[in-house]
Amino acid sequence: MSKILAIETSCDETAAAVVEGKEENGKSRLSILVNVVSSQIELHKKFGGVYPEVASRAHAEKIIPVIEEALEKSETQSASRRTNVKFNLKDAMKEIDAIAVTYGPGLIGSLAVGLAAAKTLAYCFDKPIIPVHHWEGHIYSNFIREKAKSKKQKVKIPGFPSLILTVSGGHTSLILMKDHGKYEILGQTLDDAAGEAFDKVARLLGLPYPGGPSISAEADKIKYQIVNSKIKERCTQEFNLPRPMINSKDLNFSFSGLKTAVLYKIKALDKLDEKHKAALAAEFQDAITDTLVSKTIQAAKKYHPKSICLTGGVAANKMLREKFLDIEKYLEYQPDIYIPAAELTTDNATMIGAAGYYHLLLGKTSKWYDINVASNATLNSKE
Ligand code: KG4
Ligand code: ZN
Repeated sequence: MSKILAIETSCDETAAAVVEGKEENGKSRLSILVNVVSSQIELHKKFGGVYPEVASRAHAEKIIPVIEEALEKSETQSASRRTNVKFNLKDAMKEIDAIAVTYGPGLIGSLAVGLAAAKTLAYCFDKPIIPVHHWEGHIYSNFIREKAKSKKQKVKIPGFPSLILTVSGGHTSLILMKDHGKYEILGQTLDDAAGEAFDKVARLLGLPYPGGPSISAEADKIKYQIVNSKIKERCTQEFNLPRPMINSKDLNFSFSGLKTAVLYKIKALDKLDEKHKAALAAEFQDAITDTLVSKTIQAAKKYHPKSICLTGGVAANKMLREKFLDIEKYLEYQPDIYIPAAELTTDNATMIGAAGYYHLLLGKTSKWYDINVASNATLNSKE
């Protein structure tokens, strides 16, 4: 059994978590003991996006309280803790076997704060440190399977090879995960990431940051009807947007043209009223989720993965989640489909701890002096 303290500060969430991994009958089981996320969304709203300098300052302010909260809550849960004892960092760190931390990619000033905190703890308490690639963290949010909340949710971990659609504010890619730590990038965005497209289109529509949840809420104002027993269809179809690269032979994406198409639709209007806003948000959401799901189906037909996983902040999108769960209808076999719990889709440290646990099992740990931030870190591929 191993307990891992995990730290994530790559963008605008200061996050710390404690996860526990166990090996039982040859199977790994990961549990979340504590998950603390301090979001900076309110600070960045007025800029309409993440302002790097503001982000790193806020991380510097929050990192110690967030780590302390995670350790204190984890200690409170521990059976060995005596009641009414004041929090003591030294005692709390005795229970931790390793420290996992995001080293990249991300905003350099933000990453540096989390990494410096992790290195300091590793140095002072002589703990191994596990550097985790941010996308890898997102991928491993699918390996935390505590309890199934719906019939379609899987309790066992994804089988290999696994096809992963990662969709967040900083990246969008289709990855074939052949085993723990072995990745092949099958395709990725040639310009904007999916989350970035949500954020930019929200700005065009005058909706607040972050754009994903705002567009989703705006689209929900449109009425839908059920056709063909299950498939939902919008009652009115005012705008038609392109599904970029949906018929291209490769597995790459491109979303900047879609954003420009929204801009032209707005320019063609006399006035962008509330009705137009909702209709454009709904059509944009439909177009982007159609493209993401259709490329995932193409990849599944080509690579026949045992499982298909969705990850990243955009995975919080309700429409994308619904369409993703329907992927098996378009395939001639039934791979297991995985979607993380909604609270684990956007940036958090639990996913970094989960990836860290599997690194620990493979003996992939470092010393504090061996790791550095890498704002453009690439995911090791093709093994
Ligand atoms: O993974 P994440 O927290 O940070 C990065 O690694 O980039 O993803 C943040 C992105 C933002 O662009 C945000 O607009 C998007 O995820 N997002 C959503 C939703 N919730 C967050 N996009 C669509 N629908 C949502 N419900
Ligand atoms: Zn992320």
